[in-house]
Amino acid sequence: MLIDWDSILAYNTIKIVRIRDKRLGILHLCFIVIIVLYVVVYSAIYKKGYLSTEEPVGSIRTSLWSPNTFKANQVYCKNNTEPYPYKKLECVYYDDALVGYPIGDDVGFTASSRMKISEQKSNCSLTDPTCKFYTNSSVNVYLADIESFTVLIDHTMYAPLSQIQFNGDDLSGYILDQNGNEIQINETVNVIGIEGRPDVLELGKILEFGGIDLDGPSMINSSNSIRYDGCVLFVFIEYSNTFSYDLNKIKYVYSIKKVDDTGYDIPEAIILDNPNSRLYYKRHAIRLIFIQTGLIGSFNFQSLLLTLVSGLGLLTVSTLIVDQLAIRFLPQRKSYSSFKFQTTESFKMKKRIVNDDGEDKLYHNIETL
Ligand SMILES: *[C@@H]1O[C@H](CO)[C@@H](O)[C@H](O)[C@H]1NC(C)=O
Ligand SMILES: *[C@@H]1O[C@H](CO)[C@@H](O)[C@H](O)[C@H]1NC(C)=O
Ligand SMILES: *[C@@H]1O[C@H](CO)[C@@H](O)[C@H](O)[C@H]1NC(C)=O
Ligand SMILES: *[C@@H]1O[C@H](CO)[C@@H](O)[C@H](O)[C@H]1NC(C)=O
Ligand SMILES: *[C@@H]1O[C@H](CO)[C@@H](O)[C@H](O)[C@H]1NC(C)=O
Repeated sequence: MLIDWDSILAYNTIKIVRIRDKRLGILHLCFIVIIVLYVVVYSAIYKKGYLSTEEPVGSIRTSLWSPNTFKANQVYCKNNTEPYPYKKLECVYYDDALVGYPIGDDVGFTASSRMKISEQKSNCSLTDPTCKFYTNSSVNVYLADIESFTVLIDHTMYAPLSQIQFNGDDLSGYILDQNGNEIQINETVNVIGIEGRPDVLELGKILEFGGIDLDGPSMINSSNSIRYDGCVLFVFIEYSNTFSYDLNKIKYVYSIKKVDDTGYDIPEAIILDNPNSRLYYKRHAIRLIFIQTGLIGSFNFQSLLLTLVSGLGLLTVSTLIVDQLAIRFLPQRKSYSSFKFQTTESFKMKKRIVNDDGEDKLYHNIETL
């Protein structure tokens, strides 16, 4: 039998109906223009669909400096006679070595604002399971002028996929103020975001940016002040190179958010001349928790392709809408749909030319008609 290569290797293609109707044509053209604008201008260019983005990792080093001269006799000190809405305590003028505890903490930073100093003793041997420390005397003190301490924030970011690494000193940065504006600070003490100068902020400024007033009511007990109970703040450092079209421009933005409904305290025990005699410091503190985050983008052809292709799905939808309009809603719908759909005769209703013997019989019957 002769093999009909033309029919075996036939090329199947789709037949297209051209509906000569400017309403449909204009509508479809509008859809296409809008979709192309959306995909190319908005998704690919404006939204930077050609980038693959990653979140950078980083590390933080902080250090605390005490002020050169303390503001003495503040309103919360016992010695001060002005009215203060909360309990006044004695003030101590501790320097950074005594205020910052614990040290060497690389996710956070803690500066004490109040301490309960207890002298504890046990007059028994600690090998005895019933032996307990008792508190001989205890005193509550404020660590005066904690707002004037300065914090140096030395931060480094690294984006593993795009191999971008920078220290904060090399980048320009900003801090979000209370109104959500990005500002740089270039003062004698406070510096944020100036290239070539490390970021330094007074603790008072940090609290101000976080919306915390140390002499306002505490978040866990409103009959105490925040200075008395302590507080926790998140310091987000957000790195980005996707804010402009130049991927080599990297900036960072600090934003400081207070954590509601919490105070902060941390205990510290200092052993004196023997283990049975110790000082117990219960420190209430301002705790900063640093979180480095952001988006670092690099060009990626795969991402671009994905952006474009996902937009093409919209073209199918637009065609569907115009088709439905043409065959269901326009006055000429009958004639349009008769062109669009080529209907065969219904074999069921007409003279039965086939029984259930299958296709061969059908073709045979047709040929012998
Ligand atoms: C108490 O206040 C007076 C002045 O009001 C001051 O001279 C004195 O040094 C203060 N004492 C302490 C312990 O701060
Ligand atoms: C030992 O401690 C108890 C309190 O726990 C006290 O009553 C007692 O006087 C102390 N003894 C001496 C020798 O200090
Ligand atoms: C308790 O403290 C007082 C002074 O603060 C001191 O005189 C006394 O010796 C202390 N008692 C003990 C058992 O250490
Ligand atoms: C920051 O301030 C210093 C002196 O106060 C000045 O020399 C420097 O140009 C300033 N930098 C910026 C970026 O404003
Ligand atoms: C709040 O603080 C006051 C004064 O320190 C204390 O008397 C009170 O028991 C505290 N309230 C709570 C719920 O802890």
